[in-house]
Amino acid sequence: PKINLLLGGASNEREISLKSGSAVAQALRNGGFDVTVTDVTECRLLPEMREADVVYPVLHGGFGEDGRIQKVMEEAGLRFVGSGSAASLLTMDKIATKRLLDRLGIPTAKWSVVTRDRRELPQNLKLPLILKVPMEGSTFGIVKVERAEEWDAALEKEFAMAGELLVEEYIDGIEITVPIVNGEVLPAIEIKSPHGFYDYDAKYVYKDGHTEYFCPARSLSAEQVADASRQAVKFYLGAGCRDILRVDFIVGKDGVPYMLEGNSIPGCTATSLVPKAAKVSGISFEKMTATLVYAAMR
Ligand code: DAL
Ligand code: MG
Repeated sequence: PKINLLLGGASNEREISLKSGSAVAQALRNGGFDVTVTDVTECRLLPEMREADVVYPVLHGGFGEDGRIQKVMEEAGLRFVGSGSAASLLTMDKIATKRLLDRLGIPTAKWSVVTRDRRELPQNLKLPLILKVPMEGSTFGIVKVERAEEWDAALEKEFAMAGELLVEEYIDGIEITVPIVNGEVLPAIEIKSPHGFYDYDAKYVYKDGHTEYFCPARSLSAEQVADASRQAVKFYLGAGCRDILRVDFIVGKDGVPYMLEGNSIPGCTATSLVPKAAKVSGISFEKMTATLVYAAMR
């Protein structure tokens, strides 16, 4: 089959997409696929896409992951890897995700929404708090507020990026992620960041030393992993996702996995989290990408 792989994009995660996309293209070529690579910076249907049997978007953030390009492809009747437009939008939007989590009864940190007009510190939430720009990835636009005095300054910084923000209680615990690939739950990965949490620097810059990854997770019981996996699948099905999803959690001191969010186009270099977990379960990067292509062709 002929594949058109989309990478780049114009979001804050462009650089990561270039890395993920090149790695996926290479893996597919190693697997014998005919791959054309398109750097997309606008959400429109490019001629290359029409000529492909399958479009494989490896775009993070912005229109790559928020459903807009998926909508264009759906309307054109193209087959593509990954979730459709509605599920993509839902998983990209951290506020919509929270609403769905509550509806599905999936444990998650207590939360609220603040806007420029409703900006007071939510009385129902306990400090420390995490403020998040709803439609970003890779920890862009996330700040921790330890003390009430920091609230106004944190808001100012965040409102420069979005007019509506998610605010949630900070959960101290162990960060894990659960990948789902082609309906199969892969082993959870435990993440030990050199900072308090797994932020952009810990993900990609390594400026305070390396982040450590443990797959299988070293500090969790089999029950806790099974619990997180069940919640991940519940979200995957509830959100209507397809093919691939990486579901992030913090396992609190009480042992409960609190879900953070799902990522419909997770980072995908050979050493990214999902390929790492696939490898642990005996699935090579080549095989993983190939099975995603075949799933999209069905
Ligand atoms: N948003 C980044 C790429 C991830 O989820 O891996
Ligand atoms: Mg994300």
